[in-house]
Amino acid sequence: MTTDIADLLDFLNLMLECERAGAKALRFFEQQAAPPALARALPALARDEARYCVLLSREITRLGGTPTSRTGDFFAAITALPDWPARLDLLVRGQAWVARRLAERLDRVTDPDLKAALSEMHATHLVNVDEARRLALAIT
Ligand SMILES: [Fe+2]
Repeated sequence: MTTDIADLLDFLNLMLECERAGAKALRFFEQQAAPPALARALPALARDEARYCVLLSREITRLGGTPTSRTGDFFAAITALPDWPARLDLLVRGQAWVARRLAERLDRVTDPDLKAALSEMHATHLVNVDEARRLALAIT
């Protein structure tokens, strides 16, 4: 395995950890008594994160790697926060961080299927960052 592909698989596994943390956190928040605007938005946001766990696992396997079973520290960090504004603030920052990392990486991705998948993931993260920002304003 070349250094390039090993580096790419490390990156995809890092993204997988992050998406798993996001999916678990949003599913956990669905069980809490969230403000109505947020409660309505949570299922779609959770579904996106879960969808990217599947997508990343599939791409890692296709490229000869092993999908990590790790959950990113984001899950523990966000579920430890006491209130919705603080959780949404961290959600915005976490999703924006993932979007930035994807944008930085995309130029170097040559595999067309992976590039298409990561581009779509990047676009969805930008939409969801805006959505989380809108929700943060709606609940305060
Ligand atoms: Fe995410």
